[in-house]
Amino acid sequence: MRHQGSVAAGPEKRPADRDASADRQSGDAAGDDIARTSPAVNAPVNGFGYVAGELCAEGVPLSVLAERYGTPCYVYSRAMLVHAFETFDGAFADVPHLVCYAMKANASLAILDLFAQLGSGFDIVSGGELSRVLAAGGDPAKVVFSGVGKSDLEMEAALAGGILCFNVESASELDHLAAVAARMGKVAPISLRVNPDVDPRTHAYIATGRKESKFGVASGDAHALYRRAANMPSIAVRGIDMHIGSQIGELGPYREAALRLLSLADALAADGIALEHIDLGGGLGIRYRDETPVAMDDYARMVRELVRGRRERLLFEPGRRLVGESGILLTRVRVVKPGAARNFAIVDAAMNDLLRPSLYGAWHDVDPVRPRSGGEARFDVVGPICESGDFFAKDREIARPRRGDLLAVMSAGAYGFTMASNYNSHPKPPEVLVDGDRYYIVRKRESLDDLINGEVIPAALQ
Ligand code: LLP
Repeated sequence: MRHQGSVAAGPEKRPADRDASADRQSGDAAGDDIARTSPAVNAPVNGFGYVAGELCAEGVPLSVLAERYGTPCYVYSRAMLVHAFETFDGAFADVPHLVCYAMKANASLAILDLFAQLGSGFDIVSGGELSRVLAAGGDPAKVVFSGVGKSDLEMEAALAGGILCFNVESASELDHLAAVAARMGKVAPISLRVNPDVDPRTHAYIATGRKESKFGVASGDAHALYRRAANMPSIAVRGIDMHIGSQIGELGPYREAALRLLSLADALAADGIALEHIDLGGGLGIRYRDETPVAMDDYARMVRELVRGRRERLLFEPGRRLVGESGILLTRVRVVKPGAARNFAIVDAAMNDLLRPSLYGAWHDVDPVRPRSGGEARFDVVGPICESGDFFAKDREIARPRRGDLLAVMSAGAYGFTMASNYNSHPKPPEVLVDGDRYYIVRKRESLDDLINGEVIPAALQ
């Protein structure tokens, strides 16, 4: 949802003690956690779009957020988050289902709280994620636990919390879980995550459904393992699960994988092992550049057709699709460095804030907050980190940037902040949630103290 609007922007409310210095990287959450733009800039923007020549998040000009909270800074649109969830959930309104948001995409408590309020469950992959769900008021009875290497502690916490289901990924994990549950006097609800050996046709690092990948139980081994599970007193077989990869741009691989899953479910039923749910995983892609994402209606139509006449509840584990386009990374140009071979715009965000371009060569649009006409040139937009792999855009035609300009790295709501690190001892950026003309700091910028918190120089070695 990117709109061109035309609303007269009134005078911005600028905190008197802040300037637009290119070097300002503080702008922390000093003071209250809620603020409002002046009503004059309350634009009818739903998501990110230009209003009176400036990129806004809903009704809030991004420059207002940059001045208040500093840069780099993640900004999320509540309206887009709600829209994305309701579109997904609504597409299956007429079939029993549960959307379990794959929170690895964005684990901000404010976003978990929002999705929990909308009725979402959660797909978790660690005890840390479980504790976030609980902290955000999520319902453990709507939690599925994926992951190839769960620890004793994680299994214990999930069993104590009463989660909906463990997605078990190997025979060894099944034995391990059965032992932990027995020790606790509990019965662990499980699905087997089946590896259907289907090529999701996505980046190799995020393809998970081929037999070469570490994920899931080979489809040929699944039936026998289900039989074994069904006879374990501390295990209750509940469902079947798949997740074949991420940023998938076509329906074919889902269909092929789902068909394998459903025929396995039928074989199990014939064998007296009835399942309560079928978990079709996540993976639906979004538009980063010029991709045409699978339309929600097409996906839902395909799924409904595949499961027509079945009684099992459907589970889904979407991550990126619910949050990806709802967030941007706001950054300011620190240095403009023309060169013989390349022109560089060095910004204050870096690979430690958003790793996707460095790790996957991923494309993100980089849009100026206040576009200037003319003067297009080819630039590399890079961070200040000491690696040539620290980039957001390469050889990109953009309006010639100037020191101090604000840029927005688009579609950064998924796998942005959650993959951020402190590399080069950069504090992690703040996160801001916009709702109409109001905005809330939902995570403060890390301080320099946060960077060394927990570290010890052994006294004996001094
Ligand atoms: N379920 C399971 C078991 C998963 O492993 C994942 C993602 C999902 C659901 C959600 O997938 P989604 O709907 O978001 O595609 N860091 C990468 C993506 C890694 C995905 C890992 N698993 C990136 O930035 O593209």
